[in-house]
Amino acid sequence: MCGIVGYIGHRNASELIIKGLKRLEYRGYDSAGIALFNESQIKVTKIKGKVSDLETKIIRKKNNSGSIGLGHTRWATHGVPSDINSHPHLSNSGDLVIIHNGIIENYAAIKEELVNRNFSFKSDTDTEVLVNLIEAVQKNGNYKLGKAVQIALNQVIGAYAIAVFDIKKPNEIVVARLGSPLAIGIGKNEFFIASDASPFIEYTNNAIYLEDEEMAIIRLHKDAIYRKIKNDSLFDPYLQELKLNIEQIEKGGYEHFMMKEIFEQPKAIEDTYRGRLNVDKGIIKMAGIEDHLDKFLNAQKITIVACGTSWHAALVAEYIFEDLARIPVEVEYASEFRYRNPIISDKDIVVAISQSGETADTLAAIKLAKGNGAFVFGICNVVGSSISRETDAGAYTHAGPEIGVASTKAFTTQITLLTLIALKLAKEKGTISNSNYKRHLVELETIPNKIEKVLRSDSVTREIAQIYKDASNFLYLGRGFNFPVALEGALKLKEISYIHAEGYPAAEMKHGPIALIDENMPIVVIATKFGHYEKIISNIQEIKSRKGKIICVVNEGDKIVKELADHIIEIPESLELLSPMLTTIPLQLLSYHIAVMLGKNVDQPRNLAKSVTVE
Ligand code: AGP
Repeated sequence: MCGIVGYIGHRNASELIIKGLKRLEYRGYDSAGIALFNESQIKVTKIKGKVSDLETKIIRKKNNSGSIGLGHTRWATHGVPSDINSHPHLSNSGDLVIIHNGIIENYAAIKEELVNRNFSFKSDTDTEVLVNLIEAVQKNGNYKLGKAVQIALNQVIGAYAIAVFDIKKPNEIVVARLGSPLAIGIGKNEFFIASDASPFIEYTNNAIYLEDEEMAIIRLHKDAIYRKIKNDSLFDPYLQELKLNIEQIEKGGYEHFMMKEIFEQPKAIEDTYRGRLNVDKGIIKMAGIEDHLDKFLNAQKITIVACGTSWHAALVAEYIFEDLARIPVEVEYASEFRYRNPIISDKDIVVAISQSGETADTLAAIKLAKGNGAFVFGICNVVGSSISRETDAGAYTHAGPEIGVASTKAFTTQITLLTLIALKLAKEKGTISNSNYKRHLVELETIPNKIEKVLRSDSVTREIAQIYKDASNFLYLGRGFNFPVALEGALKLKEISYIHAEGYPAAEMKHGPIALIDENMPIVVIATKFGHYEKIISNIQEIKSRKGKIICVVNEGDKIVKELADHIIEIPESLELLSPMLTTIPLQLLSYHIAVMLGKNVDQPRNLAKSVTVE
């Protein structure tokens, strides 16, 4: 929920950290701060606002020198966004400084104990409690920083990725993780610390991703020491060679990451099926499935857990799996699943879907499912993420970094991957005919080109956005495979334009939402030819009789809906089962254009963060 960046080496830490924080701003952006060590002093600058506000402040205060530093971009959990609650936080003595991504759940009890020991607190944060707990431990036992951090972390409950600096040991930074991501970039006589590798990708390709309950003492001109937090044992971490490149994390000429990512979808989908789909040979190759084929074929049901857009992809998958592979599927919000007493056993498969691979509720749902004996399969985009490590097996979407908070290419690539899995299982189970199987493979391969075509007619969507940008409410309707797309369209609009929007199965409209329809209500209807076309036409008629403004996504050449609708957006034809990958594109574009026209911050909408690593 927050982004952390740290540096120890020979470069100007301030410049590097500010640049890094800007790349991590997708993780949280209500306040930012930096601590720089220079001339035996720790200089802390922090501010409620964006990283660019922090940059201005440190330049103005001339607080920008030093080659050791820690920086933070925040999404508030404990304490409102304010200068004081921003990180980094200093300990009472002023000797220790900390940055933290996560939540210390038992901070209140610890705080009470520290107050009894005459510690005082400036902020409302759990993080200030943690840095003072470390200081209290240090004082009690005269411990070095590494040991004190370790002892303190064994007393806390919660999640953290932290970096701590001690003025008394100015050549080292101590880092640790539990539940929140932490990457260490290894350069020549320099180390980088960050929530993901994007802040240091231009300096080094070598990174270590700490696992849960691991810590490292990073020392200038020396090797780092890697230690388990619980049992004190040392370990050799796995040094990973990064494949990420700088272009992937920059806007590449687009005004916003969201638009770049919408336009990247044809390539992202190709990247998802590359090496897996061989249309000529009629083969789908997926090691993660093949290695556990028996489990999938014998599963009594598949439960899919996810949040937000990933949950919408799961709903599409429910239709696809049941239709093709005839395996019963249940889709659960991870946040609900984790707190009920779900009926899950070793005969079940649980599929967890997450772009970031860090969503706290999805992670907790996985742990619960594993505890009940289920086999858990992960579908993630971020390589090496917590969910990809926590699951028994899995597959990556390979969509490339998604930085805009509103998920776009994550959705279509998740559907691509889930379709491949369903087709593979259907073939193995014999629930699909050879010709139908082949037809789906051929069609799947045409999707990127068809998306290109939809993207080329973006101007139509922009014109519609111009007409309806001031509406206060929107309804989105779809049926069958496209009902989840209606939900996703509504989510996209509300999260970036702050316009209230609801998605519904079109037939449900008359059970309530129809009461909302009048001449001021724009209603987006997915009315493609295959699947429920006549039924959708009846629904459109019902809207028309109530004078609602009808915006329809139709197949090219459609004449019937064109007669009824106020506006149409044409997309190429495809199989019904594959159509969500096409129908969702105009809805992404519509929400994007409306948000831009309303002057909203498209990539960083208010109150949100890209990866929700807290409950
Ligand atoms: C969608 O646009 C979101 N910003 C959000 O709903 C997101 O999909 C959700 O938080 C799940 O994230 P994940 O896929 O990284 O787990």
